[in-house]
Amino acid sequence: MMSIKIRKIILIAIVLGTLLMIESFNWQIVESNNKAKNLQVIYQDISDKELMADMKTISLSIGVQCGYCHVVIKEGSEDIEPIYDAASDEKQNKLIARNMMKMTNLINTDYLAPIVGDNKNHLITCVTCHMGHIKPVSNIDSLFIH
Ligand code: HEC
Ligand code: HEC
Repeated sequence: MMSIKIRKIILIAIVLGTLLMIESFNWQIVESNNKAKNLQVIYQDISDKELMADMKTISLSIGVQCGYCHVVIKEGSEDIEPIYDAASDEKQNKLIARNMMKMTNLINTDYLAPIVGDNKNHLITCVTCHMGHIKPVSNIDSLFIH
């Protein structure tokens, strides 16, 4: 017969082991899937965390908030974030932004990748043109309007 102490230790080990398994299983689901329903340009397997980081970068790059592209379902307040229907394609700005993503990817893959080689940080992003503004400087005259 095993002593009660040993049986207790084995029981605790089984419980801890099971908890760890459940924990890592959940983690895998969270890492390899996201809740996004309507990604057409961004790669499908992006994690929610990475998607949010990308969205924040895009917003900063062109100097806007999420609601510039996404339909607001519930207005936020000082300490509560607004709620968006981010999958909706209702807002024209989101459609323009999606085309901008395609354009940026095309410039990178077709025109820049062949010349930048391993210097991936020399590829362009939204901020290359927009520099924090909705309307980029598009010609020398507009430099003086900005
Ligand atoms: C300049 C426009 C723009 C801004 C600003 C923007 N987004 Fe997006 N967002 C998009 C586009 C375009 C897509 C779809 C990308 C695609 O089709 O691959 C998208 C997709 C998403 C999705 C995935 C929705 C789904 O179910 O498919 C979420 C979530 C999201 N955005 C959240 C945010 C949040 C939160 C912010 C603010 C931090 C934000 N976005 C700012 C343009 C924008
Ligand atoms: C090669 C330069 C370039 C890059 C890169 C670029 N844009 Fe643009 N974008 C422009 C130009 C030029 C316009 C037209 C601005 C105007 O109407 O005067 C524009 C317009 C827009 C508009 C519409 C603004 C408005 O109301 O007129 C949005 C939104 C936008 N870009 C988002 C993005 C996002 C998001 C990215 C990155 C995925 C991006 N852009 C990358 C050049 C660029």
